[in-house]
Amino acid sequence: MNFKEELAKLIWNAINNESISIETIKQFIEVPKEKQNGDFAFPCFRLAKELKKSPIDIANIIKDNIKDEKQILSKVEVVNGFFNFYISQKELVKEAMEKFDLQKEDYGKSNMGNGKNIVVEFSSPNIAKPFHIGHLKTTIIGNSLYKIYDYLGFNTTRINHLGDYGTQFAKLIEAYKRFGNEYDLTENPIDKLTQMYVRINAMCEEDEEILEECRATFKKLEDGDEYCQNLWQKFKDLSMQEFNKIYELINVEFDSMNGESFYSDKMQEVIDILEASGKLQESRGAKIIDLEDQGISTPCIIQKANGSTIYATRDLAAILYRARTYDFDKCLYVVGGEQSLHFKQVFAVSKYLGLSEKHLNGLEHVSYGLIKLPEGKMSTRKGNFIKVEDILNEAIEKVLEIIKDKDINDKEDVAKKVGIGAVIFDDLKDTRSKEQVFDISVATSFNGETGPYVQYTTVRCNSVMEKANYTPNSNINYDKLTDEASINVVKEISRFPEVIVSAMKKSEPSFISRYVISLAKAYSNFYNQNKVICDDKELQDARLYLTYAVKVTLTNGLKLLGIEVPSKM
Ligand code: ARG
Repeated sequence: MNFKEELAKLIWNAINNESISIETIKQFIEVPKEKQNGDFAFPCFRLAKELKKSPIDIANIIKDNIKDEKQILSKVEVVNGFFNFYISQKELVKEAMEKFDLQKEDYGKSNMGNGKNIVVEFSSPNIAKPFHIGHLKTTIIGNSLYKIYDYLGFNTTRINHLGDYGTQFAKLIEAYKRFGNEYDLTENPIDKLTQMYVRINAMCEEDEEILEECRATFKKLEDGDEYCQNLWQKFKDLSMQEFNKIYELINVEFDSMNGESFYSDKMQEVIDILEASGKLQESRGAKIIDLEDQGISTPCIIQKANGSTIYATRDLAAILYRARTYDFDKCLYVVGGEQSLHFKQVFAVSKYLGLSEKHLNGLEHVSYGLIKLPEGKMSTRKGNFIKVEDILNEAIEKVLEIIKDKDINDKEDVAKKVGIGAVIFDDLKDTRSKEQVFDISVATSFNGETGPYVQYTTVRCNSVMEKANYTPNSNINYDKLTDEASINVVKEISRFPEVIVSAMKKSEPSFISRYVISLAKAYSNFYNQNKVICDDKELQDARLYLTYAVKVTLTNGLKLLGIEVPSKM
């Protein structure tokens, strides 16, 4: 039932005035911000001019003449010239369940994004360097945003902007030449490359000549020298092998792996455009853009005094390329808050690249706060940093320990889904900007506001249905659902589609994680208060269908976060 439409008809009949249409009335009907002001409200002042009456008089006319023949209202109220409607609970339940029923397994999906292009850039680790917990967080947030946009029908592209360009690779090549044979790169290659880098760096500091050689090697690398290119590719492949282990564990894929090096031949155009715009200035041999007039006190360096370009220039080239290639409506950068100035500068400079308003307005830095590990709590602490792969494996181990005595068939698979789900959920459970303390024991707990708790509730829904040998059948008498716990579950279910849309608008997967927690809690409460299997067949069917709807909604919500549900746990 379209409540606004129905209410507009009721008002229209009550005021009985030819000059006002149902459509006009419908437009003015609002959903009050405060629940105590009813489910819908009509601001009577909207018709004051037309009817030449005060809002209070209009409200009273409606009150005296309204005929709710279909009995959709439980109460009406006149407050300060507003006419407030309370929809009967029975109608609300029916409405919500029918909305679910239309989509069933696809509940929450929409095509609102049809025809719109979204680029989500995330993960973007640096080759020959460790993939750290910050990289894990961008990967998890970005993957969820991709799924959210995709579910809403947007044409979405996932980009991994690999950090695969820079003088450090020339240093690595020089290191490899000098002492590469001392390192076995078949095992833990990133550790070894990091050690080699530290060593050559120290040598460069001592010996200007070596530094000079590194510079020359960088030039060769940029010019496409075969030996240098091959070594660079080797470092890249070794790094990708390591990164792919993580991507496989958390089930993340990309549509493009165009990293920084992809733009090495596309930066001159940026410099040319900026030059032509008249904004490029010389400053101590370097080329910079002053951003004072855009309220940014640090200028953006485009080219260093020695002629080499920097990180920002590659980002500018990437914006141009992405605007042309993907014609994006939005281009999101899921990158930690510490790079906030960088993105402010890059976005500010991009105004001089001749991009369309659409592309300029679409640029957005989706930042997130720091992640901390509780001191001494991780058994994986080796040396100075914690390996992400070890964190993920430890989470899986922890879950395996919890379920080891349970009667479950494929324990390894269950532990993987739950352990990984636990880490993902922990990364997404709070607002992005909030600092996160990642405690693996808390994250993998089956109680509390955790991924495993939501997965567990979903699995429970499944087993309730299994026990009853139930196949969902939407021929349900919803009037049977009258108790507060059931109504609460229904109200939660009905919120899901709008939660997805707000998560998309604010780039906040946490809206969905908060939501699934709240739905799981409502269901646990319902389950404690009601016997699903009971003597009244109609009541049992209604409760089972509700259980089915919860299962689907939780599963879809978790899917949007990038979390799978095991069959048992
Ligand atoms: N590689 C960078 C890092 O690890 C992140 C890249 C962010 N993306 C970008 N377009 N600048 O810190």
